[in-house]
Amino acid sequence: MTSAVIEVEHLYKVFGRRPQEVIRRLTDGADRSELTQLGTAAVIDASFTVDRGEFFVVMGLSGSGKSTLIRMLNGLNEPTAGSVSIFGHDLGDLDAKELRALRRRRISMVFQHFALLPNRTVLENAAYGLEVQGVDPAERAERAMAVLERVGLRDWVTKYPGELSGGMQQRVGLARALAADTDILLMDEAFSALDPLIRREMQEQLLDLQEDLQKTIVFITHDLNEAMFLGDRVAVMRDGRIVQSGTPEDILTDPANDYVAQFVQDVDRARVLTARSVMEPILGQVQVSSGPRTALRLMREQQIPFAFVLDRGRKYRGVVSDRDVTRLIKDGVSDLGSVVQPSITVGPDELLADLVRPSVISKIPLGVVDDHGRLLGGIPRATLLASLGSVPSTTQAIDVITPKVRALAEGDTLTEQAHAVLQDAIGGETPASVSIGTGATADAMVAPEAPADDRERAN
Ligand SMILES: Nc1ncnc2c1ncn2[C@@H]1O[C@H](COP(=O)(O)OP(=O)(O)O)[C@@H](O)[C@H]1O
Ligand SMILES: [Mg+2]
Repeated sequence: MTSAVIEVEHLYKVFGRRPQEVIRRLTDGADRSELTQLGTAAVIDASFTVDRGEFFVVMGLSGSGKSTLIRMLNGLNEPTAGSVSIFGHDLGDLDAKELRALRRRRISMVFQHFALLPNRTVLENAAYGLEVQGVDPAERAERAMAVLERVGLRDWVTKYPGELSGGMQQRVGLARALAADTDILLMDEAFSALDPLIRREMQEQLLDLQEDLQKTIVFITHDLNEAMFLGDRVAVMRDGRIVQSGTPEDILTDPANDYVAQFVQDVDRARVLTARSVMEPILGQVQVSSGPRTALRLMREQQIPFAFVLDRGRKYRGVVSDRDVTRLIKDGVSDLGSVVQPSITVGPDELLADLVRPSVISKIPLGVVDDHGRLLGGIPRATLLASLGSVPSTTQAIDVITPKVRALAEGDTLTEQAHAVLQDAIGGETPASVSIGTGATADAMVAPEAPADDRERAN
């Protein structure tokens, strides 16, 4: 038993006069462009599985066969060869009635051009799938209402589609699909007709919804940025074939061929790559118990002015500077604890787009810290910039987050001065749990000159 909800094996769709002949020639190695007299090979030898709860994106240029492929997943197109199984049932074994039942109960589809019924209200449109399923009127109104509320259309339920903007109409399309409460959601260029800003909003909303709903989604797009942003896995199609499938990071960092490589040149890496994928091992690490001399020796060896400090459980405590450590040695203090300062850390799954601002305000590499407080690696600013190297000039304004500042010794409190510097640099509330040894200042580790406009946006 696998967790695969959709299984596609050696699937072909050929339109035209001699479909079987086309497949035979293709398997003998012919190129589809030589066979146009015999038929159009829209999908060629596609194989993949989609697991329960997975967000699977099929990306390709117009004409590459995406719509033909997705229409075979719910039986709207009959395969010329190969098979599609949904929950272990081969669609080829179902009769027309069983296919219709499958489409009603298990698979919903959202289209590029909304396909709303103009003479029905928003509520009636959203309830349409339930009506087809035979759900009684009271229940379908209630369920449709609940979904409309989730997509932000609560106040629009009595309006007609013509009174809504494109973005709102597509929310109705999405609500209709979600209200039907099917396991599988097929979305064919669902956001492609929307303005970039609305589209971005819809992408984010869909991901939010998916977090709760855990549907099995197949999403089609011709936009690689959209594919990379949404997909758990992405299949890249070209001329009817899937030329690569993998996680967005796989595709970005290891394109299977020149075609994919050329595509990904234009991808906004900042929205795909995560802290984990670019972080580097931290050379300058010391145990808090190891004392100032060890710390200073390490800093000299590594030629760095700071060291990352871990406690016994390898949990991240903060950083120490060469200046402070030297002072401890002069003063004969053997414990590093009093000069450990907070530094800016980020989670391993944060997107590079969200690391730019913390990186700008931090004089030292960002620490990458997991949920258990363990230091996984560091991201020097140069590394971040290099990783972002292929961001196109059209990249939109980069979102900004308030970085997390880690606690040091429990029970310690920030000196007023350090608190002010940190707050200023980070541009927001410093969490009360942030602590720093008395007498230490934070300015050694956090550059105070963060631009004012960034500071506003961070709030
Ligand atoms: N019903 C059809 N009859 C003939 N050719 C078709 C039909 N549907 C699609 N095609 C052809 O199949 C190829 C793939 O089309 P399609 O799946 O719509 O691509 P995409 O959705 O990626 O733009 C195109 O060459 C298209 O012209
Ligand atoms: Mg299409």
